[in-house]
Amino acid sequence: SWHGVPQAPPDSIFKLTAAYKEDTFPQKINLGVGAYRDDEDKPWVLPVVKKVTEILLNDPGLDHEYLPITGLPSFTSAAAKLILGADSPAITGDRVASVQTISGTGANHLGALFLSRFYGFGEGGRKVWLSNPTWVNHFAIFNNVSIEPITYPYYDPDTIGLAFQPFLNTLRTAAPRCVFLLHACAHNPTGVDPTREQWGQIADVILEKGHYAFFDCAYQGFASGDLEGDAWAVREFVKRGVPLLVCQSFAKNAGLYGERVGALHVVAPTKEAAQRIKSQLSVLQRSEISNPPAHGARLVSLILNDQTLFDEWKRDIRTMAGRIIEMRKELFRLLSEELKTPGNWEHIVNQIGMFSFTGINSEASQALTEKAHVYLTTNGRISMAGLNTHNIRYFAESLDKAVRG
Ligand code: LMR
Repeated sequence: SWHGVPQAPPDSIFKLTAAYKEDTFPQKINLGVGAYRDDEDKPWVLPVVKKVTEILLNDPGLDHEYLPITGLPSFTSAAAKLILGADSPAITGDRVASVQTISGTGANHLGALFLSRFYGFGEGGRKVWLSNPTWVNHFAIFNNVSIEPITYPYYDPDTIGLAFQPFLNTLRTAAPRCVFLLHACAHNPTGVDPTREQWGQIADVILEKGHYAFFDCAYQGFASGDLEGDAWAVREFVKRGVPLLVCQSFAKNAGLYGERVGALHVVAPTKEAAQRIKSQLSVLQRSEISNPPAHGARLVSLILNDQTLFDEWKRDIRTMAGRIIEMRKELFRLLSEELKTPGNWEHIVNQIGMFSFTGINSEASQALTEKAHVYLTTNGRISMAGLNTHNIRYFAESLDKAVRG
């Protein structure tokens, strides 16, 4: 039976983790999945997370009841303030419908599902514009809810930077009321973000055309090491009255990958609209997961609602972002100064966030994996967090060889 079920290919990102684990080569490196590692290549449990885990364990009132359908209220309200700013007109006007989700993927899914049911798609049809390139899962998430993903120019391979004018032109020439997915900061996979000035121009056109901004924010804190700075674009769009939603993940910035803690925030024009939206999100959530998981949300809620713990978290984020920046500098130095690898490698230090788009082609990427046991996606993206003071020279030398062919 089930003869009609074709074999699906493995996931392009998680298959790298599996292959890396099986590899017995001593100098193997995993630069595939975006997951932070310390300088010893170990997953890092944030000290503040250790602390709040202790607090939870010692809480005599802790039980294992269901959370409300839309999640832990002390978590969702603090999470909304974290991304939108406590003084955001959307927060002070009580215009945000916030729902706890299964991390960023769940937020993207719930947001997409909500749009598929309720968004008034214009003459452009049931489509979502994704950046080219984007996180590969975005395509599947929107396809699952019958919204067709199409792409807008984002990355310019010649400059290894932002294709700003083509991006802006697409925003201008698209039919009115289109949905555009934007990475709030630390663009995945390129590490290339618009400048504030460019974000301003993007917002202008979005407003002019009546488009909808679907923000994905999986790396708040990783772009600049600063939570506030990384929320700038979202906050600016809210201030300007751009209709939007934000998908938020605490996988990376709290190192809570397995807890699946995230949120969806839909900013509505009025408090009353936000209430109606939240009622529908609740209905959708009930049919899909009933109620979100409690543990991660409790941990994050403790951190976000206590100034001392919050300050500690910010320090932990700076530790992670800082180590990644050090690795960028060192990789750049090795390639451009020591090895004199052909090409310009300045983008390694100019790009931000957890990823660097090296600009190498798929043959060179494959050669790195096959010959040097370095695992990376074939689009040339590397997770900078997989590099450390022990393996960076081996990586730079392997990259040098792959580039020289
Ligand atoms: C990545 O892009 O590597 C991360 O966002 C992990 C994932 O879910 O793909």
